Amino acid sequence: MHIVVFSGAGISAESGIRTFRDADGLWEGHRVEDVASPQAWLRNKNLVLDFYNQRRLNLLQSQPNAAHLALAELESEYQVSVITQNVDDLHERAGSTKVIHLHGELMYARSTGNPTFRQRLDNGLLHADMHCPEGFPLRPDIVWFGEAVPMMDTAISIATKADVFIITGTSLEVYPAAGLVNFTPHDCGIWLVDPNRHQELSKQGIRCIAKPAGIGIPEAIAEIKKRYSTGGRHS
Ligand code: APR
Repeated sequence: MHIVVFSGAGISAESGIRTFRDADGLWEGHRVEDVASPQAWLRNKNLVLDFYNQRRLNLLQSQPNAAHLALAELESEYQVSVITQNVDDLHERAGSTKVIHLHGELMYARSTGNPTFRQRLDNGLLHADMHCPEGFPLRPDIVWFGEAVPMMDTAISIATKADVFIITGTSLEVYPAAGLVNFTPHDCGIWLVDPNRHQELSKQGIRCIAKPAGIGIPEAIAEIKKRYSTGGRHS
């Protein structure tokens, strides 16, 4: 059985990483377009670099929570693919081995001139004078608003092969990622774990668990194991 997990910022909330769409509409005090767009990079490189340096230092202080750990543990029994909108590495640090990052990876920089060059930022800091070996400046390895999502086709291909699809911690407001669920097979069991009111999903028969991921994910996993060990399908 192939379990596909589609995660967003909410799964890392209990690890101390803020979600994007908090009530004040600001992301760590910034409007998102001031720090997470190609225009922001052109306008004020140092603000963007400093913003992501802060995010990285925060991530280095954070630990995977019960939801990340429970999903990693699932690999001992099932084929599991994680598709995440998150740029943090908490799924990997929990032990998940197949993780697709749709929106890039915070702990990496990439070259602005050589699309194949990436560099891990072990101390969390990227400065304006850092370059790739060919001399191009480095930028955060983040897919900014308005940029293409190169891993989307891979993610769609994985979603089409899901027996179970678990959605957690995402407001499903940002496309194309939010449309991924529409590529799951018609008989795929779908679970949604999110403590807050949620945008209507077009797929029917979704099992909603209105709890934080740290509690809701282990609960969803228990339900999935029960349902599929008896050979039943989710309807
Ligand atoms: N457990 C599970 N879900 C939670 C928790 C929690 N403890 N706390 C909050 N949530 C839910 C919220 O109810 C909301 O539905 O997580 C969701 C967070 O939504 P967003 O902040 O919009 O995050 P996300 O959907 O990941 O954002 C998508 O937007 O800014 C961009 O590129 C960025 O990848 C990001 C994308």
